[in-house]
Amino acid sequence: MSSDLPGFFEGTEMPTAGWWEALWPDPAAVLATVGLEAGMDVVDLCSGDGWFTLQIAKDGHHVVAIDIDRHPLEVGRHRLGDGGMTNCDFVHGNAYDLAELVQWPADFVFMANAFHGVPDRLRLARAVREALKTGGRFAIVNWHRLPRDTTTVLGEPRGPKTELRMSPEQTIEAVEASGPNFARLVEVPPYHYGAVFERPEP
Ligand SMILES: C[S@@+](CC[C@H](N)C(=O)[O-])C[C@H]1O[C@@H](n2cnc3c(N)ncnc32)[C@H](O)[C@@H]1O
Repeated sequence: MSSDLPGFFEGTEMPTAGWWEALWPDPAAVLATVGLEAGMDVVDLCSGDGWFTLQIAKDGHHVVAIDIDRHPLEVGRHRLGDGGMTNCDFVHGNAYDLAELVQWPADFVFMANAFHGVPDRLRLARAVREALKTGGRFAIVNWHRLPRDTTTVLGEPRGPKTELRMSPEQTIEAVEASGPNFARLVEVPPYHYGAVFERPEP
């Protein structure tokens, strides 16, 4: 199982096929809501099978998709190949090593459905800060801290267990301690929020 991989973040397994697409019918709208803009150099951190990566590649200039599990990374590679995208590199590695895995400073780091499982958030936020350009943004899309039995998709409770979920305030506090500065909070219906951070002038 992928969750047995050393360094794998708890509760971040890629879901079984079907309901993810139902929950996220419009990845372009999600990305626009959290501030992705055309022409950006982007890192999709914990990219999974590329559901968001495909749209990021359509909008962005260059993309690096990083995941610790080779299997979803391969699925993503095929998804983008089938979509005719050639501006994305797929990198196998741990999110903590982001600053070493990406050779250029990023305009935008996108992390969806994974931050709740990061054990050392200070370390992750510091790595993201180092990987960003001045003025670059870090967008976290997280499940709201709702009881799991209330977040149903296609008739069944979905998402990480209730105890792992983070409020927006917890997410903001965790990132600001060592990472970029909080910029804004947005709703990503039906069950998520987006917290957006920005790297200030040195
Ligand atoms: C729930 S999936 C979400 C994928 C994608 N961001 C999305 O929202 O469609 C979380 C992904 O994080 C990856 N992951 C878990 N721990 C990781 C780590 N330490 N470094 C990089 N990726 C990791 C998993 O392999 C999985 O593909």
